[in-house]
Amino acid sequence: MFPIVEARPLARDVKLFRIHAPRVAKKRQAGQFVILRIAEHGERIPLTIADSDDEGNITIIVQGVGKTTKWLNTLETGDSILDVVGPLGEESEIDTFGTVVIIGGGVGTAIAYPTAVAMKKAGNHVISIVGSRNRELLILEDEMRATSDELCIMTDDGSHGEKGFVTEKLQQVIDRGAPIARVLAIGPVPMMRAVAERTRPHAIKTIVSLNPIMVDGTGMCGGCRVLVGGKSRFACVDGPEFDAHQVDFEVLIQRNRLYKQQETESLARFEKEQCEAAKQKSSCRLEQST
Ligand SMILES: Cc1cc2nc3c(=O)[nH]c(=O)nc-3n(C[C@H](O)[C@H](O)[C@H](O)COP(=O)(O)OP(=O)(O)OC[C@H]3O[C@@H](n4cnc5c(N)ncnc54)[C@H](O)[C@@H]3O)c2cc1C
Ligand code: FES
Repeated sequence: MFPIVEARPLARDVKLFRIHAPRVAKKRQAGQFVILRIAEHGERIPLTIADSDDEGNITIIVQGVGKTTKWLNTLETGDSILDVVGPLGEESEIDTFGTVVIIGGGVGTAIAYPTAVAMKKAGNHVISIVGSRNRELLILEDEMRATSDELCIMTDDGSHGEKGFVTEKLQQVIDRGAPIARVLAIGPVPMMRAVAERTRPHAIKTIVSLNPIMVDGTGMCGGCRVLVGGKSRFACVDGPEFDAHQVDFEVLIQRNRLYKQQETESLARFEKEQCEAAKQKSSCRLEQST
């Protein structure tokens, strides 16, 4: 069992967990992830290691989108997680490149953050562009500011930072004309695809962290197969980071939709169970008070 030493909400439906997992904490590098299972009959889901500390804790940041992530986000400090396997995946390529632009969309910022820290430590000039639908959904603003030479915040509705998409800010940064050695973009698939199309005409090396459905995380199940440069690659062992100009995003979108119906049914079942459990609790409290 892996104890949760801290659980705290960061934004609506987004929660940060520090989990005691000393062997993972000791080995992990930027860009790597864990696969965890909350309980015996639970699904295995991949989550990026956002940070680690000397006490042997890893930090993960979770956006509740379906059954398992919403279940995870109900856990609190003092609860435990059954399995935490990792660190998995290839680490981010870190070097002194020059100016790097790091783009995080939504919870993608949590995945971009450890790489931004490593890029800054390696002596790069880091320009970060962080975007979300609105102010309420923005995460890690202070942390990204602390590790960036320049931080640009974009919200779809203009409720914080500038109004617009991260791609518009990226275009402005490109148009300044100063050389950009590479761009790293992490977020929803349409956002990563749009970033790739902005940098392609300028031949700016662009890396994306792909998020296909994963099961074993060891290259054995084939679940995370993606098409990169016309070749099949496994995001869990060959990635999750790949050259954005080589990725077939259409195939990624189609494969991520494969279990949509089962995912929807599973979430509906989970929410019904939660609702019944809550009703039971409040009727117990009523019985006690009468
Ligand atoms: C290498 C890697 C690192 C990741 N790191 C993080 C992280 O740090 N924080 C975080 O919140 N999420 C992260 N994800 C996404 C996370 O794994 C999924 O959100 C989770 O598996 C969904 O499980 P679920 O049972 O809650 O939802 P499901 O019921 O399985 O799916 C609900 C919805 O989420 C979509 N979805 C399912 N799997 C994924 C996926 N792998 N990526 C994106 N969308 C998905 C589905 O299409 C569906 O619309 C990462 C994914 C990968 C592959
Ligand atoms: S998750 Fe099974 S091959 Fe990658």
